Formats: sequence, structure tokens, C-alpha cells
Amino acid sequence: MLIDRFGRRITYLRLSITDRCDLRCRYCMAEEMTFLPRAQILTLEEIATIARAFVELGVEKIRVTGGEPLVRRGALELLEELGRLPLKELVLTTNGMRLAQCAERLVRAGVRRVNVSLDSLRPERFRHITRFGDLERVLAGIEAARRAGFDRVKLNAVILRGVNDDEVVDLATFAIERGLDISFIEEMPLGVIDSHDRRQAFYSSDEVRADLARRFTLLPTTDRTGGPSRYWRVAGSDSRIGFISPHSHNFCGDCNRVRLTVEGRLLLCLGNEHSVDLKRVLRRWPGDADRLKKAIVEAMALKPERHHFDLREQPIILRHMNVTGG
Ligand code: GTP
Ligand code: 5AD
Ligand code: SF4
Repeated sequence: MLIDRFGRRITYLRLSITDRCDLRCRYCMAEEMTFLPRAQILTLEEIATIARAFVELGVEKIRVTGGEPLVRRGALELLEELGRLPLKELVLTTNGMRLAQCAERLVRAGVRRVNVSLDSLRPERFRHITRFGDLERVLAGIEAARRAGFDRVKLNAVILRGVNDDEVVDLATFAIERGLDISFIEEMPLGVIDSHDRRQAFYSSDEVRADLARRFTLLPTTDRTGGPSRYWRVAGSDSRIGFISPHSHNFCGDCNRVRLTVEGRLLLCLGNEHSVDLKRVLRRWPGDADRLKKAIVEAMALKPERHHFDLREQPIILRHMNVTGG
């Protein structure tokens, strides 16, 4: 079992399988981004080996992320392999651009739930926010996911003041009409971006909730998916509305997760740099599962207590979200 030095049980691994993406969302990346050279990234076999070690150590849930996970060649084969591990849940976060053609195979691979980013329902604005996104394709991906038979499909919307804060009710209505869940996310200061001032664009979860309360009756729930969302139900529907509020409601006390970047760095917290280089262990002692597991167990001693995001300062975390894996 993996227990960190604050007694938190680590059962959730977020696995970034590529830092690349077909979009450049303004809150996530700068327009010109360079990606890691191939020799520095883990092979699919190495990723599977690390995932297996985590499962043997008690991890029950794996979320595959990126970048955009579905742009990596072999992603579906990797997901099929992960689907054979004894997990409670295998889940995926995607921008939805390639979901239409992958949804059925993902379900067959054992992916239970999928989270799709959707920040706007207006094609031009969607393109403005994501720079290379095509709303129609993403909506087709969401439709394909609904039909493919996932247990749940969740939308993620990062709300920015002056950009899409007028779409909170529309996005929620879209989700409710289709029986989807939706999480509203406060932007986090990860990496230097060039498109807006994060302090000015900050739109808190409390403001989102107030916007929604004018239209819907929100009922608090104790539902948890093992992630940071706090969920509410909408009276008369089975959609859940989640709030991810790293600024206004710190949730680190019950953190249960670590992240593996595609360079093989085990990140112990989204908001801190503490990490251990598992690629080095793997490449130095190939095939030595015990040594790998020992390195993972020892890493737990480095897990920080909490993150300290401060919008008034330059980001202290220079990794962009595409490296961290959300
Ligand atoms: P489930 O709970 O499994 O549905 O997943 P999730 O909502 O945590 O995952 P998803 O990949 O959809 O992430 C949604 C948002 O939550 C992203 O912006 C993530 O970066 C953010 N997030 C996920 N984990 C953490 C965390 O440990 N800390 C913070 N501050 N944000 C997180
Ligand atoms: N702050 C908050 N959420 C972000 N995401 C990407 N960058 C940021 C950021 N700086 C979100 C995306 C996606 C999820 C994986 O991470 O919207 O839904
Ligand atoms: Fe790509 Fe996701 Fe980053 Fe958008 S938020 S650029 S979809 S990795």
C-alpha cells in the first residue's frame, strides 16, 4: 500500500502519455510551444510497466491524460493493456477532437468514464479559446461517447472572466439535457502563458454557482469520484455539477493522487515541483520490478502537504498543464 508521510493513502495515478496536443488552449499553453524530444519520453511498454508497479502497490484508479492522450500513436493499444490490470476504474481525459473515431474501442478496452474539455458552445469563441479546436468535431465526439456506453461522460469547463463567463448557464443546460456531468474549473497558474492576465480572468466557483442558482436549484451531495471536484445535483435531473476550486476551496487534505509525466517523472503534487525520476530507475535496472516499486514507495515521503497557488505572483510552477497531465 502507498501511504504518504501525512497518512494519506495514494490510490489514484494520473498518467500523462504524451505532452503533445492538437490544440493550444489559452489557459494551458503559449501559442508557440516546444515539446519533448522522443528519446526523452517513455515508451508505451515503459508506461505499462510503471502502471503495473503502481497497481501492485495498491493503486485502484488510473486516469490517462496528456497533452491529448489520443494523439499518441499506440494510445488505444496501451489503454487496452491497462484495461487488463485489476483496477476499480480506468478513465480518460481528452479534448474530444478524436473521440468520435475512438469512443467504441475505448469502451471495449474497459475505459469506464471519459472527461471531455468543453469551454464554449459558440464555434468562434471555441476556436479563440482553443486556438486550433473545432467545436463541431468535439460535439460529435461527445455524442459518440454518449452512444458508446461509458458509465459517465463529464465535461470540463475552465471559466475565464470576460471570455466565457456568460456561458455558465448554457454549458450546464447542455450537460443536463444530455444527462452528462459537468465540472467548472478555476484556472490554475501553471506555466507562463501569453494570452491573458490570470488575475483579471479569475472567475471563482462561487460566482459560477451564483450564476447557476439563478436558473437551477442546486442540491449539495457527498458524491466523490476520487478527484478534487465537489459535486452538486440539479433538482429534476441526474446530472452532477462539479466545482474544482484550487483557489477558493483548497482540497489538498484528502489528496489521494500522484502523476506520472511522459518523461517518467513522478510528480507528487500538481502545485509543487517535488518529483522522482522513475525513467532513470527503469532504464538503469531494466526488468527489476522490485527496484521500481521501492523507488515509488520511497517517493511518498516527498509528497508535499498542499499547494500554494497565488495569482498575484508569477507562476511558481513553470510546467504547463500539458506536461503535468491536468
Ligand atoms: P475525476 O474525479 O476522476 O472525474 O477526475 P478529475 O475531474 O479530477 O479529472 P480531470 O482530468 O477531468 O481534471 C479536471 C481538472 O481538475 C483539471 O483542470 C485538473 O488539472 C484538475 N485537477 C485534477 N487533479 C487535481 C489536483 O490534485 N489538484 C488540483 N489543484 N487540480 C486538480
Ligand atoms: N487551469 C485549470 N485547468 C486547466 N486545464 C488545462 N490548463 C488548465 C489551467 N491552467 C484543464 C483543461 C482540461 C483539464 C485536463 O485541465 O480544461 O479539461
Ligand atoms: Fe490540449 Fe488539454 Fe492543454 Fe487544451 S488544455 S491545449 S486540450 S492539453
